[in-house]
Amino acid sequence: MIEMLHDVPPVAASPAGDGVRMLTPVPGPAATRLFRRRMKEIPRSLHQMVPLFIREAHGALVTDVDDNVLLDFAGGIGALNTGHTHPSVTAALRAQLPRLLHSCFHTGMHEPYIMLAEKLNRIAPVPKPCKTAFFNSGAEAVENAVKIARRATGRPAIVAFEHAFHGRTLLAMTLTGKVNPYKAGFGPFAPEIYRLPFPSPYHRPQGLSAKTYTDQCIRGLRDFFRLHTDPSQVAAVIVEMQLGEGGFIPLPQAYARALANFCHEHGILMIVDEVQTGFARTGRMFACEHYGLHPDLVTLAKSLGGGMPLSAVTGRAALMDSPQPGGIGGTYGGHPLSCVAALASIRAIEKEKLCARARILGSRVKARLRHLSRTIPAIGDVRGLGAMVGVEFVKDPGTREPDPEALRNIIHHALQHGLVLLGCGVDGNILRTLMPLTITDRQLEEALNILESAIRHCCHETTRHPRGRGHHRPRHRLGLGTIHRPA
Ligand SMILES: Cc1ncc(COP(=O)(O)O)c(C=O)c1O
Repeated sequence: MIEMLHDVPPVAASPAGDGVRMLTPVPGPAATRLFRRRMKEIPRSLHQMVPLFIREAHGALVTDVDDNVLLDFAGGIGALNTGHTHPSVTAALRAQLPRLLHSCFHTGMHEPYIMLAEKLNRIAPVPKPCKTAFFNSGAEAVENAVKIARRATGRPAIVAFEHAFHGRTLLAMTLTGKVNPYKAGFGPFAPEIYRLPFPSPYHRPQGLSAKTYTDQCIRGLRDFFRLHTDPSQVAAVIVEMQLGEGGFIPLPQAYARALANFCHEHGILMIVDEVQTGFARTGRMFACEHYGLHPDLVTLAKSLGGGMPLSAVTGRAALMDSPQPGGIGGTYGGHPLSCVAALASIRAIEKEKLCARARILGSRVKARLRHLSRTIPAIGDVRGLGAMVGVEFVKDPGTREPDPEALRNIIHHALQHGLVLLGCGVDGNILRTLMPLTITDRQLEEALNILESAIRHCCHETTRHPRGRGHHRPRHRLGLGTIHRPA
C-alpha cells in the first residue's frame, strides 16, 4: 500500500521555520524503506493510522525521516496536550535520570510517586479525601478501576456504553463498544459486562427535539436496569464524558445528571474514564468539571505523563483502600521518570493556562469549520468540548449517512500538505482534533488553512446553505483506501 501513496502529485516545498515544510510526499523514500522493514518484522495488527515515521518532534511540529515538517493534530492520540518535548518535562527527566531509574514501588518507594499522588488527589474531581494508584496504560487503569469497584461493592456487574473505547486488554476490550478492529476474533470476553446506548443528539430521529431525545434516553436508562441487569448487582458504570475513539460526542448534560442520580440511588459507583478527555483537553482540567460531576473513581492516562507512559486511578479513599494489600499494583506502575514528567507537565498546564487555551483553540476550530459547513454539505456536524473537536462527514446532511471516504481523502490530502489528522467513530467518518494545546496562533492558522483546503479539495461545495439538501458527491477521489483507519 505504501507505494500507492507515491501516485499523488508532488507537494511544493515550503520554507522551514516554525511551520510546515514539505520536501517529499508522505511517506517519502526514507520512510518507505523503514516501512518495508516494519512490515517484515512487526505484525500488521499494529495498524498505522498515519504512514509517518517521526525522527523528532517539538511542540506541535513533527519532523519525519525525510525532513518533512508537519503540524500535529494527532498528538500521540491525545497524549501530548503539553506538546512534544515540553522544555519543563525534558528538564525534569534530565534531572531525574542520574538519580533513580527504577525501583518498583512495591519494593522501593520514591518521592515523585507520592508527590504526584498528592497533586492528583488535590485536583481530581473526586470527593475528598481521595487516593491514587499508578499503572502504565489507560487499559490498565480501567482494569484496576473495575477491580477496585468490584472489591468495594462486592457486586459483579459493570455497565459500559456502546461506542465506548476503554482499551485492548481482555476486560478493557470487553468494555469497549466497537467490534472491528478491537474485538473481532478475540473472544470469549469477560463476563458480567452490560451495555447502554450512548446518546447521540446529532443522530436523533428526525422530528425530535434534542431535549425530547435526551428525555427518551433518560427513560431508556431506567428501562435498561429493568430489562438487562438488576441495579443491586451492578458495581459500577464506566463512562467517557465525551466519547473518544467512539466519535467525539459529548454526553448530554441532562443525561449525565440522570445517570449520576441513578447510580447514587442504587449504590452503583461511577467511574469516569478521563484517559482521553483529561488534562485540559476539553477546556477544563477534567471533562467531569463541565458537568459538575464528582465520580467515585477516575481513570487517567495519556496526557497525564506529558509524553511518558503513565496511568492512574484516583478515587474516594475508602474505595481505593478496599482491595487487600498486593491486590493491585505492578512492576513499573508509577515509574520515577514518568512521575517527574507528569508533575512537570501538570505544572505547565497550570502555569501556561492551557485550559483557557484549549477553549480558545476549540472555539477557533469550531468557528472555522461551522463557517465552512455553510457551503460544504459533507460537514454534517461540528461539536465537542474545548479543543476536543469532532467533525462528522456525511454523504447527505438530510440522511446523515456517514462518508468515511470523504474523511479518508481529507486526511490524506492534509497529510501531503503537512497536517497530521486522525479520524474516529464506528464508521470512520469523524475527524477529531488532538493538537498540542501549546500550538501557536500562527501554527493553528496554518493548520486550519491546510484543513480547509483539504476539505474544499475533497468535498463538493455549494454556494447556498446546504442543510437538508439531497445527495452530494465528493468532487475528487484519491482512492487511497488503506492509509487511515480509526482506532
Ligand atoms: C477513553 C480511553 N480509555 C482507555 C484508553 C486505553 O488507553 P491505552 O491505549 O493507554 O491502554 C483509551 C485510548 O485511546 C481511551 O481513549
